[in-house]
Amino acid sequence: MADHQHAYAPDALIGEDIAAYLQRHRAKTMLRFITCGSVDDGKSTLIGRLLYDSRAIFADQLAALESDSRRVGTQGQAIDFALLVDGLAAEREQGITIDVAYRFFATERRKFIVADCPGHEQYTRNMVTGASTADLAVILVDARKGVLVQTRRHSYLCHLLGIRHFLLAVNKMDLVGYDQAAFDAIAEDYARFAASIGISGVTAIPISGFRGDNIVAASAQMPWYRGPSLIEHLERVEVVARDAAGPFRMPVQWVNRPDLDFRGFAGLIACGSIAPGDAVRVLPGGRTSTVREIVSFDGPLDRAQAGEAVTLTLADEIDCSRGDVIAAAGDPPQVADQFEATIVWLGDEEMRPGRGYWMKLATQTVTATVQQPKYQVDVNTLDHLAAKTLALNGIGVAEVFADRPLVFEPYAESRSLGGFILIDKESNATVAAGMLNFSLRRSQNVHWQPTDISRADHAAMKNQAPRVLWFTGLSGSGKSTIANAVEKRLALMNRHTFLLDGDNVRHGLNKDLGFTEADRIENIRRVGEVAKLMTDAGLIVLTAFISPFRAERQMVREMMQGCEFVEIHVDTPLTVAEARDVKGLYRKAREGQLKNFTGIDSPYEAPDNPDIVVNTVEMTVEEAADHIIRHILPLK
Ligand code: ADX
Repeated sequence: MADHQHAYAPDALIGEDIAAYLQRHRAKTMLRFITCGSVDDGKSTLIGRLLYDSRAIFADQLAALESDSRRVGTQGQAIDFALLVDGLAAEREQGITIDVAYRFFATERRKFIVADCPGHEQYTRNMVTGASTADLAVILVDARKGVLVQTRRHSYLCHLLGIRHFLLAVNKMDLVGYDQAAFDAIAEDYARFAASIGISGVTAIPISGFRGDNIVAASAQMPWYRGPSLIEHLERVEVVARDAAGPFRMPVQWVNRPDLDFRGFAGLIACGSIAPGDAVRVLPGGRTSTVREIVSFDGPLDRAQAGEAVTLTLADEIDCSRGDVIAAAGDPPQVADQFEATIVWLGDEEMRPGRGYWMKLATQTVTATVQQPKYQVDVNTLDHLAAKTLALNGIGVAEVFADRPLVFEPYAESRSLGGFILIDKESNATVAAGMLNFSLRRSQNVHWQPTDISRADHAAMKNQAPRVLWFTGLSGSGKSTIANAVEKRLALMNRHTFLLDGDNVRHGLNKDLGFTEADRIENIRRVGEVAKLMTDAGLIVLTAFISPFRAERQMVREMMQGCEFVEIHVDTPLTVAEARDVKGLYRKAREGQLKNFTGIDSPYEAPDNPDIVVNTVEMTVEEAADHIIRHILPLK
């Protein structure tokens, strides 16, 4: 093995003057990069060498590495760099779900954070995490194999996640006799592919991570190569701090109000810079003011810029709370509630089009639904495929509807205001990462039309408080029968009601829907919207739908005001409902003539915490109706 000279002597300053050392370190710029490739491409060896050559490993790790290399290494007496990285990998495998290792190292010129992610397709979610903060991608290929399917997949993902600088490291040049023609062919092949997906500015470097060729210094083995070594390029590449240059944006993290005299808005500046006296606009509201003071941990500042956490005080008392964005008054970001987005699905359970997820964008959290994808991208061929949903690691383009306006920018312009995650409301797991492409114009051209007769007027005219009595339960559990009995009692009490029944609504409004999960979600969404309009009209609405999913029942609850929504679980066991089989559907389902039948081959999620439970085994219809009426009285 060739010499493994160190790039830089251990920094003597550390021992002598720690303050001076830290100061010099702080002044260095930072480059975040991601390495893409698999172990077979020599990725571990390369990263190990970068850390070793820049002295980023500690003395004790080094000693262990040297003895491990002799004991179990694959390189004879020489150091097996792969052991270093793989050793760290074993450590980190405990308890971390997203498997990305971030390593820090520094040279004389720059500080680096390298995200190391496993390269196989099933690790797409890890790559997405690592790439979302990286400025540069090192795409590693084996000189003997050239550009592979995975090379294309990695490059596509990195480009999608906003990386603008690509370094093609053609590794294992020693194994092809340091042949220039081999390198040129791969570099050209890759450049062609990169251009086809919109990547410009690829730097290709022939290296051997194992031998140390062109890692730190120019390799004597490849005199035909005149470009920079890997480290030289990483040190010198100019990464335009996109965020520093643009117009000012600061998502408000929290409002700091220690006493009545002070009201500051704390946050991390996402873009641009700010100084006292600058005009700002608070979005989505749109009110303007000027910055009075920039407060920081070190006292008041004359100016602050992207990447700094500060507290701003404003000249005027205007509405501003967590989730709002303070922006340059003359150049504010957009506000919208409907978007086209590119989504990478990270959840183990597939995406449910139409289901409400928490959507987090900067410091904003809203409920959002994702529509059926327009298409899914085959990450290996980059073909667009038709898709009804997205499964783990699936990438697609879909429309996203938020329940409130969001302050945003297209991801291509701002990672911080264009990138978002989706969180499952029940499990609290992060199920997707997304990038907003643009807002849908149709939503911008539809406004709220004010009406003079208010919701309260409607309710007052009917002399009642609106309600939604939401019956849920298996098919044949008795929902419709009991709801009907309750409605009759309410009518006798002179209440204004309307009963929305599953079978009936499916003859009209929802006749286009079947019984897939997506269709059932859409069924309940529409019924929820109709029930909402009816409560606006002052009615007491009764609904009888299986409504098998908790998430959608919760969604409807959240659409209603205060405690208008009353969830009633008609809790009839499957065996009882099946024995009754009023419509003969259970028999058909058992015989396989009816697919996706609730309770047979489609799930029913019973309510965790229903407002009312009626048990139709122990209660008659009349008793159940009385029980419900008692519970909802008084109705005003
Ligand atoms: S929901 O699941 O989308 O809420 P909904 O209440 O509208 O269902 O419709 C259920 C009714 O449709 C049942 O009472 C039954 O009469 C009929 N039906 C037909 N096929 C199915 C099926 N596969 N699963 C459940 N109900 C079905």
